[in-house]
Amino acid sequence: MNILILGSGGRECTLAWKLAQSNKIKNLFIAPGNAGTSDYGENLDLNPNDFEAVKKEVLEHNIQMVIVGPEDPLVNGIHDFFLSDDALKNIPVIGPQKYAAQLEGSKEFAKKFMYRHNIPTAKYKSFTVETLEKGFDFLETLDAPYVLKADGLAAGKGVLILNDLQEAKDELKEMLTNKKFGDASTKVVIEEFLDGIEMSTFVLTDGKNYVILPNAKDYKRIGEGDKGLNTGGMGAISPVPFADKEFLNKVEERIIKPTINGFKKDNISYVGFVFIGLIKVNNEPLVIEYNVRMGDPETEVVIPRIKSDLTDLFIATAEKKLDTFKLEVDERSATTIMLVSGGYPEAYEKNKEISGLDSVEDSIVFHAGTTLKNDKVVSSGGRVLAITSYGEDFKQALTQSYKNIEKIKFDQMNYRTDIGFDL
Ligand code: AMP
Ligand code: GLY
Repeated sequence: MNILILGSGGRECTLAWKLAQSNKIKNLFIAPGNAGTSDYGENLDLNPNDFEAVKKEVLEHNIQMVIVGPEDPLVNGIHDFFLSDDALKNIPVIGPQKYAAQLEGSKEFAKKFMYRHNIPTAKYKSFTVETLEKGFDFLETLDAPYVLKADGLAAGKGVLILNDLQEAKDELKEMLTNKKFGDASTKVVIEEFLDGIEMSTFVLTDGKNYVILPNAKDYKRIGEGDKGLNTGGMGAISPVPFADKEFLNKVEERIIKPTINGFKKDNISYVGFVFIGLIKVNNEPLVIEYNVRMGDPETEVVIPRIKSDLTDLFIATAEKKLDTFKLEVDERSATTIMLVSGGYPEAYEKNKEISGLDSVEDSIVFHAGTTLKNDKVVSSGGRVLAITSYGEDFKQALTQSYKNIEKIKFDQMNYRTDIGFDL
């Protein structure tokens, strides 16, 4: 079968790596891909948000299934575009339609969904510029710290956590009246602060049935000890050691089942990944957020732990037969460490030649922000490479990744040396 993966990061490189191992694949395409994905398939130079360009390539290459990596084509309605086009409507798209993608595209939509289906989450209220004063009043009823979230997509920057009430009021005003996050902060969700430890669970659903994928924990801050600015993610570990059987059972019963049943009750046809960001408070799981795609860098540890054929898994999803799919999971731990560019997550260096990739042994190098320039691999993004390893436990896996990182070099390369420090 011919499959197209949309996206260009470490997540897409990992999906390509895994799909390329399947004997069901005839031709694999990645659009736009990166220097790493070209080892597993053919990169197509297009923007995944240009749906007409996607259509042209899909028809030209006789593509039979599309896997959507990032959220923005989903939020922009790529799946709906396929369904409404006579030439494309029978080609399965793994990723939800626009309405359901609001679970990630609108914090308020997600909160309402959770309330409607009794899914545990932080208390909240949402406000617009017209109700700013009411927002101030609501903040006064809460204890510090104060959690303010821009309703729309804000590239991972739209959440503010503030210790001071006055500062929280000022920021609320900035977000609503001065559109601090552009249109994304036309509406702001104010939430109760939850104090606990975070992890993520990943579910693949065909709309009727679901398969729970390996869980993971990522490390979002740039600095050691979870200090400094938020990034897309600096590393990840799977499985999460503190998520024991009893806790995971609560997650399935109280969160996963009500989520999938909620889709049915709301008449939402959802085909694709559901990424549920969880927080464990007093041994109870609550939902922090939904994403409508896989996480990055979580994919770089979740997918390598799947032993089943990924093409079979996607076919079962498209055919709504996930109830009969038996997912085989590697019992080992997997960890990944992100190598990032100097300056990231602020303005960063690019075009740095990367050396040492050929000397990596017993780890997998997933490319994130790389490109080929005169046959040499150079950096082209903030997050450049993800180094994934297996181990009997996460510490052994980390040791292996760090050993290989010693061999990789590019100018101003940065990474966290303390992934897993809190476990
Ligand atoms: P979100 O984009 O909703 O996932 O929020 C980004 C990050 O902010 C989360 O990963 C948490 O670390 C933190 N966060 C969000 N909501 C809360 C909350 N209600 N209480 C505590 N921390 C939160
Ligand atoms: N690593 C977090 C995310 O993909 O949103």
